[in-house]
Amino acid sequence: MEKILIIGGAGYVGCELTKLLLSKNYQVSVFDLMIYGEDKLPIHKNLNKIKGDIRDIDLLEKIVPGHDSLIHLACISNDPSFELNPLLGKSINYDSFLPIVNISKKNKIKKFIYASSSSVYGVKKENNVTEDLSLEPLTDYSKYKAMCEKILLDNQSSNFCTTILRPATVCGYSSRQRLDVIVNIFTNLAFNNNLISVFGGNQLRPNIHIKDMTRAYLNILQQSNLNIDGKIYNVGYENKSVIDIANLVKNCMDSEIKLITEETNDNRSYHVSSEKIKKELGFVSNFTIKDAIIDLISAFTSNKLVDPLKNPDYFNIKKMQSINLK
Ligand SMILES: NC(=O)c1ccc[n+]([C@@H]2O[C@H](COP(=O)([O-])OP(=O)(O)OC[C@H]3O[C@@H](n4cnc5c(N)ncnc54)[C@H](O)[C@@H]3O)[C@@H](O)[C@H]2O)c1
Repeated sequence: MEKILIIGGAGYVGCELTKLLLSKNYQVSVFDLMIYGEDKLPIHKNLNKIKGDIRDIDLLEKIVPGHDSLIHLACISNDPSFELNPLLGKSINYDSFLPIVNISKKNKIKKFIYASSSSVYGVKKENNVTEDLSLEPLTDYSKYKAMCEKILLDNQSSNFCTTILRPATVCGYSSRQRLDVIVNIFTNLAFNNNLISVFGGNQLRPNIHIKDMTRAYLNILQQSNLNIDGKIYNVGYENKSVIDIANLVKNCMDSEIKLITEETNDNRSYHVSSEKIKKELGFVSNFTIKDAIIDLISAFTSNKLVDPLKNPDYFNIKKMQSINLK
């Protein structure tokens, strides 16, 4: 049985990825600070949950050996949470990265998969953002993602297969819910407040359904190393404008929803191409933004999400403010 270590595997994407890998008969270890609790992960005979900090090199030295592949998701994972404490953000998102890569290499990890972000491109004049375009990250969160990519590529070797994914914004339901990403924000506001506030509107924001995001990681795990070694792939699906996403959410609701548009100075707009992963690895998305909205409505209707407008568990920045991590 292949053994996979998911660093940051108790987060929004990690919880759903863990479940998918368990269902495909992988042995999974999740190493995570469990900021959002470890109860969001299932109890399963093939799952080993380890609570710890990726900055703890000694602990990593003990945990990494014995795994075949590693998926690195751990992160202060959005701009506002990063900016709350930039030194903390850097220590987690960047300073810990080379040690993790070194330990993985030393312990003969066969595949190292890194969750970067499509935000590394910044704002592009090109209509279709492909992997070969230069990186012009606009925030520290994105800048350190780009710098980690470089570290990983510099360390790629014939015995150490590295793959970088640049995901679009993820949407949909997870047992560790995030309600601070665009589709989820709008669905929460519409369902629980009957009102959506849209800042700007015409900016294009690429999204990917969480089920497709986890399928993408699985796809990479299942590939022969020859296909994916040293490769970088965008992973997105629908490139809709913010206003179109808001209208889609509005039209999925039974009740009347008010839509307010406000000015914004955040005019980032980009159309991310996911043709490369389709052409080279045959990966195509199966789930739409609408599917994600419907899944979230179903979670709200069945009260799976407690106090969704205020609960810090669903908003990374609120959670980081409340735990005062050093
Ligand atoms: N969700 C998105 O829309 C999106 C888009 C592009 C890229 N990504 C990337 O995908 C990855 C997963 O994103 P997510 O949405 O699941 O984020 P998340 O915040 O839900 O999960 C991150 C996990 O990392 C853990 N973590 C944070 N600091 C840690 C530390 N010092 N030691 C150990 N664990 C620590 C947290 O406890 C959390 O469980 C991140 O790297 C993120 O940057 C996400």
